Amino acid sequence: MDYISPAIRDDFAAVNRLVIERLHSDVALVESIGQYIVEGGGKRMRPLITLLCARALGYPGTQHVELAAVIEFLHTATLLHDDVVDVSALRRGRATANANWGNAPSVLVGDFIYSRAFQVLVGIGDMDILRLMSDTTNIIAEGEVEQLARAGDPDATEAQYTQIIGKKTAVLFAAAAEGAAILAGAGADTRAAMRDYGMNLGLAFQLIDDVLDYTGDPQAMGKNLGDDLAEGKPTLPLIHAIAHAAPAAATVVRQAILGRDRDALADIVASVQSCGALDYTHQRAVHHRDLALAALNNVADSAFRQNLESIARMAVDRVS
Ligand code: IPE
Ligand code: IPE
Ligand code: MG
Ligand code: MG
Repeated sequence: MDYISPAIRDDFAAVNRLVIERLHSDVALVESIGQYIVEGGGKRMRPLITLLCARALGYPGTQHVELAAVIEFLHTATLLHDDVVDVSALRRGRATANANWGNAPSVLVGDFIYSRAFQVLVGIGDMDILRLMSDTTNIIAEGEVEQLARAGDPDATEAQYTQIIGKKTAVLFAAAAEGAAILAGAGADTRAAMRDYGMNLGLAFQLIDDVLDYTGDPQAMGKNLGDDLAEGKPTLPLIHAIAHAAPAAATVVRQAILGRDRDALADIVASVQSCGALDYTHQRAVHHRDLALAALNNVADSAFRQNLESIARMAVDRVS
């Protein structure tokens, strides 16, 4: 975890403790699945952003730790549900909860974790933060449904794709940053700038995720390659390839989306690579990373701000 500044390490450790503590349930299955996914680790980027934004804006209190735990809970719940929907078998380097326990327990424990997040939020007791988090959760759910509705559609456009990743991924990063700004009592401009940082970071993050789904190292990522293709997800590498590859290659990509065909993975990787679709997707991520960095311009320099910058760079440079 060399991307975590020493300046925030104690806060970060407090979040990890709180996440474990607040997952507690007397129902053994809830506890087992909850602990299992949390123990799998994960990069904890979203809660880290909350901690860093709060401190970068001079927040002196301790509620940013609770807010960060809420953000990680919301993320964890979406992963439990997402792996059911995507029929994914590997997450954080281990069998997914749905692979181990089945779909029904994963969905139900996901619900438990969502609602636990809101219990912790009520403890924070800030109506603006509660509004932000309830809106965010609702938008994520909508984004996942929108993506499901687009599965298998080779005519999906880049604009539709961008809207989906904004909803399913970027809004949580945005809320991680904006929520911290609210806690810190920041003015409207700063709050908007933090949201802008999170939103663009989240877009960059998901664009790279969609590249890694074709070219990543499954060992490093802790996820299987080709999950997007197996679900017929028209992500940007495929959308761009359909529009720009030679006609024969474009047809292969269209067919693979229509047929939700994981076996076509090697051919598709060759196509998206040779027609420049992966490079294009990477460039879009760089563009959003730069917007995220620019959003920090008016934040006073500090170890916290520098760490926020390094996280934006990591969203693009990451291999895991
Ligand atoms: C995975 O997020 C879900 C996406 C938005 C791509 P992360 O890659 O941040 O997952 P963990 O928490 O590190 O496992
Ligand atoms: C991530 O989407 C899930 C959410 C943001 C809700 P993906 O399905 O693209 O992410 P991975 O590849 O499973 O982590
Ligand atoms: Mg998935
Ligand atoms: Mg993915």
